[in-house]
Amino acid sequence: MSDIHALVAKMSLEEKAALCTGASAWTTTPVKWLNLPELLVSDGPHGIRRVADIHALTQKSLPATCFPTASSLAATWDVDLLFEMGQALAEEAITLDVDVILGPGVNMKRSPLCGRNFEYFSEDPYQAGKMAASLIQGIQSKGVGTSLKHYAANNQEFERFSINTQVDERALREIYLPAFETAVTQAQPWTVMCSYNKINGTFGSEQTYLLTDILKKEWGFEGFVVSDWGAVHDRVAALKAGLDLEMPGPKQTRVNAVIEAVRNGELDETVLDEAVRRIVRVTLCAAQTPKGGNFDAAAHHILARRVAAEGMVLLKNNGLLPLQNPQHIAVIGRAAQRAHFQGGGSSHINPTQVDVPFSELQKLAGNAELSFATGYPEDNSLDQGMINEAVAVAQVADVALLYIALPSFKESEGYDRTDLDLTEQQVALIQAVTAVQPNTVVILNNGAPVVMGEWLDGAAAVLEAWMMGQAGGGAIADVLYGRVNPSGKLAETYPHRLKDTPAYLNFPGENGVVRYGEGLFIGYRFYDAKETPVLFPFGHGLSYTTFAYSNLRLSADSFQDVDGLMVSVDVTNTGAAAGKEVVQVYVHDKEARLIRPYKELKGFAKVALQPGETKTVQIPLDFRAFAYYDPAYRQWITEDGQFVILVGASAADIRAQATVTLQSTLQLPSILHEESTIRHWFNDPAGKAILQPMFSELMSNGPFSQDESGQDAIGMDTLSFLMDLPLRSFLHFQEGSLTQPADDIADMLLEQVRGLKQSV
Ligand code: BGC
Repeated sequence: MSDIHALVAKMSLEEKAALCTGASAWTTTPVKWLNLPELLVSDGPHGIRRVADIHALTQKSLPATCFPTASSLAATWDVDLLFEMGQALAEEAITLDVDVILGPGVNMKRSPLCGRNFEYFSEDPYQAGKMAASLIQGIQSKGVGTSLKHYAANNQEFERFSINTQVDERALREIYLPAFETAVTQAQPWTVMCSYNKINGTFGSEQTYLLTDILKKEWGFEGFVVSDWGAVHDRVAALKAGLDLEMPGPKQTRVNAVIEAVRNGELDETVLDEAVRRIVRVTLCAAQTPKGGNFDAAAHHILARRVAAEGMVLLKNNGLLPLQNPQHIAVIGRAAQRAHFQGGGSSHINPTQVDVPFSELQKLAGNAELSFATGYPEDNSLDQGMINEAVAVAQVADVALLYIALPSFKESEGYDRTDLDLTEQQVALIQAVTAVQPNTVVILNNGAPVVMGEWLDGAAAVLEAWMMGQAGGGAIADVLYGRVNPSGKLAETYPHRLKDTPAYLNFPGENGVVRYGEGLFIGYRFYDAKETPVLFPFGHGLSYTTFAYSNLRLSADSFQDVDGLMVSVDVTNTGAAAGKEVVQVYVHDKEARLIRPYKELKGFAKVALQPGETKTVQIPLDFRAFAYYDPAYRQWITEDGQFVILVGASAADIRAQATVTLQSTLQLPSILHEESTIRHWFNDPAGKAILQPMFSELMSNGPFSQDESGQDAIGMDTLSFLMDLPLRSFLHFQEGSLTQPADDIADMLLEQVRGLKQSV
């Protein structure tokens, strides 16, 4: 550290200012006389998009392995696998001379309409944080950096450069920030990328609260903050807020603005020094990793196939899968010949090779006869001829496999979806084929949920294959033929209808503002609260075997929040095939001062079991598993009381539960203030103790005294009415019955309650 200080001390103001703005689209400015090299960053997140010309933003990139995108990765629920994939990504980065991979992205799937959801993990912050942390650890374990993005509340593409996200503090803390927090505190990404949008009126690049107070001070982030490409508006304001590196460059005007601001005293040079130190630290760290060599493309392709298979979610299966060697297979759908394996935009990888799903199927199909029909056109048009052709092929086969890919004009970075539908032709095709062939499997390639009401009943099985990466074609065949027993589970709810979704009335906003009116209630938190039926719940995924849960036990019946709790449960493979189960632990708070989701995911584990085998799964729960963020205290709090630990195979399939009592160790300051109502006073134990005697006295003798029936002179339930009066107003109504002025008494009671709290 002192080396870094010494090095920065030698730099001129001009050099320091230059280091805080990129030298090209992908590099920082080197300081040659101090042997400080440039730092080279490249997109990710699920492969390396390294352009040969560092001045080109969108050139076709050098070949690299395209792994499955984050929707698929999240559905693996396999943190070890993501670590391994991270290592492979790092190896490719090293070969391609890349210091930092721009990813992963941990924005929440607030609405399934967000065009970029394929690049994000989950609707649940705990799940997203854990998956991202492991991927980052894998990448960084090899000496390559990451950029955790897009910080924060960037949950749509519509007007993403400017939209003002209005989100309340509690939703920010409990839903939109925790995945970042987990990734930062557990994996220390080398860099964090700010988002384009405004958050509560201030651009992501100028957010002192988010960049400095929370990220750097509260979470202890040690790396540097980089802007999303073009997200900086006022360079000096951004630096002051904690935005260390502006990208892309070169931008001499920005450099000049910083120099000028230091010279005229508008910017304290220590602020610039701090940003420079952060950038230098990461640059020196990256320089320790020798670059070059070759990566093992064949091995990475095999890994990509493993990851893709692990993420595939068997949504429905009437027993047709795994295939029992059908002799005649109708393979239908353009995506069988031309794999749809990634999304459009900055994450678009130039793959080293691509599995053709049809050919991969053929390799496993033995002597079976495979006939093919394209099924649907590339564009949005209707083509009855193609449907007829598919029907003709399907009706003479034993089985029809329908490869359906959501086209990129419906889903990409840069624009949101307007519906959750497949194309009209695709729906008509599925309906027509399932009408003649009951043994139809629908295989989906998409990055986010689609609705299925019009055709689901007709399909014998549905396999969610996601944007599955370059080896996904083989992975589909593996799952269809049972070479891989599917174990993926959804990290996002599949709704019946768009209008059932949490943000439906507040997406994508208007007049430049999007209001997160649903607050904490996104994903299953919303469907639980509203008791809205869903198509497939969060955490859902079928297997070719079955699992039984038994013997749930908790490490204590009663525990202190700081000690945490250990949850143990036995899981048995009760079927005939080896398989893996994702065990999910949700926490339900029986009673809280503030509204809480019915349950929240706070732990999970993936366990592999041979037929008949039982393993004990242990999942620890810490303070945060029980806490909620209380804006009144501006901190995470726990409350004494009962919690129910729900252990399930999905959010809607709870297999075991147990109740436990938590003792909070927190000593909270009083939040009673000038305007606190009588209800607030009574909800606060200290407040109640102080107010109760005087209140009872006034209720028997004051102007609101009641008759025996609890009614006053004007025939209302006086107590309920009074509960919403601020204490001061209440006392003013009682002036006649008081011996001192109402304001004096109010002040005295406030002083008493504050003193009492402090002495607790
Ligand atoms: C995207 C980022 C990406 C950057 C560089 C931006 O438009 O939002 O995710 O890393 O471009 O390509």
